[in-house]
Amino acid sequence: MRVTPFVLPLAAQALVAPRPHMKRLSSQRPAAALEDYCPPLPEAFEAQAALTADGAAEAYKASLDDPSGFWASEADRYHWQTPFDRSNVYSANFKRSAGPIAARWFEDGATNIAYNCLDRQVEAGLGDKLCFIAERNDEGETSPLQPETYTYAEALEETKKLAAALRARGVKKGDRVALFMPMVPELAIAMLACARIGAVHTVVFGGFSRDSLASRIASAGATCVIAADGVRRGGKVIDLWGIAKDALASARDQGTPVAGGAVILRRLDDAAYPEPQLAADEAWWHNVVTSTDGSDVEWMAAEDPLFILYTSGSTGAPKGIVHATGGYMVGAGHSFRTVFDAPVRADDVWFCTADCGWITGHTYVAYGPLLNGATQIVFEGVPSWPDAGRLWRIVDQHKVTHLYTAPTAIRALMRSGDDPVTSTSRASLKLLGSVGEPINPEAWRWYREVVGDDRCPVADTWWQTETGVIQIAPTMASGAGPHKPGAAMTPVAGCVPALLDAATGAEIPAVIGEEAKGLLVLKQPWPSMARTCWGDHERFENTYFSYDGYYLTGDGARRDADGHYWITGRVDDVVVVSGHNIGTAEVESALVAHPAVAEAALVGVPHDVKGSALYAFVTLTQDAEGQAGDELAKELKLRARADVAAFASPDTFHWAPTGLPKTRSGKIMRRILRKIAAEGADVSGLGDTSTLADPGIVDELIASHAGAS
Ligand code: WT7
Repeated sequence: MRVTPFVLPLAAQALVAPRPHMKRLSSQRPAAALEDYCPPLPEAFEAQAALTADGAAEAYKASLDDPSGFWASEADRYHWQTPFDRSNVYSANFKRSAGPIAARWFEDGATNIAYNCLDRQVEAGLGDKLCFIAERNDEGETSPLQPETYTYAEALEETKKLAAALRARGVKKGDRVALFMPMVPELAIAMLACARIGAVHTVVFGGFSRDSLASRIASAGATCVIAADGVRRGGKVIDLWGIAKDALASARDQGTPVAGGAVILRRLDDAAYPEPQLAADEAWWHNVVTSTDGSDVEWMAAEDPLFILYTSGSTGAPKGIVHATGGYMVGAGHSFRTVFDAPVRADDVWFCTADCGWITGHTYVAYGPLLNGATQIVFEGVPSWPDAGRLWRIVDQHKVTHLYTAPTAIRALMRSGDDPVTSTSRASLKLLGSVGEPINPEAWRWYREVVGDDRCPVADTWWQTETGVIQIAPTMASGAGPHKPGAAMTPVAGCVPALLDAATGAEIPAVIGEEAKGLLVLKQPWPSMARTCWGDHERFENTYFSYDGYYLTGDGARRDADGHYWITGRVDDVVVVSGHNIGTAEVESALVAHPAVAEAALVGVPHDVKGSALYAFVTLTQDAEGQAGDELAKELKLRARADVAAFASPDTFHWAPTGLPKTRSGKIMRRILRKIAAEGADVSGLGDTSTLADPGIVDELIASHAGAS
């Protein structure tokens, strides 16, 4: 056994190390049992790969030996209006004991990410290359007012016009703009237009409720809203502007003036969405996007904020995660190019199914692909509409080469069987990516063997809103050796993961041949890391830096004997449902706002399709005790939908007769609730319950399991 004192040699070795204990299996189906399944990289992929594993290992080593040199040369790919100080590429502090938590990259430099995404590409001769290809909700559907494709030159033109229109509404550098739109190219263009003039965008996913949108507008202090009239999603028309208009009014009631009013994209026609009356400070996108005059680039200091993205925490209101211009740009560009085997060749077509309302859509739709001059699909619909073959037909129609989607979509499509997949060609596909939650080996295998015909490798990519870009992922390059189904595998350049013992907080040394389990932390600053929580730096420090010297991810992980990382899920009170990060506290407060509810606690339970589902323990007020049942469950579900979002509505309500299990200090013991929710009346091994104030409550909860709604 070899003891490695520091994670670098181990992680670098893991990229290329032989794994003698692993069987090389035939990849023909039916293959060996799932637990033995660990196929080599497909030959077809290796034959055409742009990157090599040796190159990746060298880059990883360089990124740790000389972070300043490594990231300075990455930054040199872009235009800097004012050069950054090469003698001070970054400075950071991860120790609260040593002062405020901080990370600063590319000091003294001034740049603009939208300029680097668009102007720079057009100047380099990519003006006629396709940038966005819109794929609508219905097959063959076209938009009455928007083009179905944008070249890089066209995307630049529209971005400039919207930038000028925003300026005309008084939006200036540093102002916040809230975006509430469907997944159309114009959403990415709106983000780029904000970035062009130095406005800080905050995109709110179009599935959120009026109240969620209002609180984000108010929290960010947005001066303008960009919305769309509505969107067809599956068979429904969703009234986005109706929600945004009410949210705008509510934010104004809360004291946020939103002086710039609203710009609204007309997506639907009169039949689907009769033209609404607009107020004086509201205007249609197509009426204001008229001239590029006044669209000059605002040069931003590297540390100026680029965007705020709200993400759920375990307590309190959602956190506004702030990303900085220079570091995010350099990180996003590097990540897109290196994690997915450089999908930038002339015939490559990138397709990320994530919405720009999430970080995945920021980094792998709006920014990463454009920084690299890639062509991509922007999909407004859902994978199940009009049927389970939709994604594969999109792949064939547009000759998609790289597909990046979520385990929840893969599992849902898998349920419809192989036929919708095998009836399509998918010959263009080269690589498959997965993100958002752990992918179970069964889904991994189906993705590779059925969707990818065993020609395409699967990249399980782990990261977070806060990390900005992918941090742990298998090496997608020739010579990289097998990828383990269900493992995120190895750190990317600049990432130094470690595991802390949950009980002692001590770092568990990385030892080849030894397994370890613990809290996943990152040790070294990286350019695209979040800088703060909007307006609340203390919360940022408390949430992510409670262990001196480490960025705490909130996830648990296992490191196997080869040094490969397996993410085991959240260790805090966040539940990931269908790839959506839901703070249980937010939903709980929606439930307890109901007069019949005395107390509520939410936990996640394993779910075949969604990964996790929400399970609510609810104690009713004395007066309302008789109301436990399906009727009240329905009402509470509606409340969660209205207050938070449709995807935050609990699947199950467990009526807790006498209360919830609490420690003597009053903290709900969620560990116990999680077990009861998952295992029901047969639950055993509840562990140490000695700190419970009233242990009898646990027995009552187990006994009342059968009565859940
Ligand atoms: C949380 C972050 C990363 C963009 C989408 C979600 C979970 C994400 C994986 C993965 C296991 C994953 C983690 C993480 N997660 N990717 N490949 N394997 N878990 O961003 O909303 O900030 O959520 O999603 O629990 O902490 P987010």
